[in-house]
Amino acid sequence: MAILEILKLPDPRLKAVAEDVERFDSRLHDFIADLEQTRQAGPAAVGIAAPQVGVSRRIVIIDCSTTRKPAPNHGHLVLVNPEITDWEGFELGREGCLSVPDYTGNVIRAERIKLHAHDPQGELQAYEMAGFEARALQHEVDHLDGILFIDRLVSRRTDLFQRKVYQKRR
Ligand code: NI
Repeated sequence: MAILEILKLPDPRLKAVAEDVERFDSRLHDFIADLEQTRQAGPAAVGIAAPQVGVSRRIVIIDCSTTRKPAPNHGHLVLVNPEITDWEGFELGREGCLSVPDYTGNVIRAERIKLHAHDPQGELQAYEMAGFEARALQHEVDHLDGILFIDRLVSRRTDLFQRKVYQKRR
């Protein structure tokens, strides 16, 4: 396993639209292990997406089970080719990103979503998510489409905040 380098703004690779995963083989599984190790290294993030380490494939990992304000969640999830199919409600909330280490921002996201995704073995799974987990998932899926949270701010003047320290959560 290896800790991979996290690309940071303004790296143009963060703006690319990632491609679907077609092979659920050992190469994919090795990459997922590296991506997970990278997520846990440094400031352990609730989510990470493959494009953040320069791999333009539709793979995300989220884990909302260790956040300071625990809410219903599915625990550790590896989602391959995730696709959001339903959105309901909207909510403003603060987000940060390993690729935008110096800022946090207020972003409007759907409150509840439905999605499906392949697991690492290639089986299709369906999920319903709400609140913080739904937000985390929408943030990560955005990475697959080359969108960063700062692209979704209503106003950079009122909704963007300088981060003093990227705190380690555990
Ligand atoms: Ni991010």
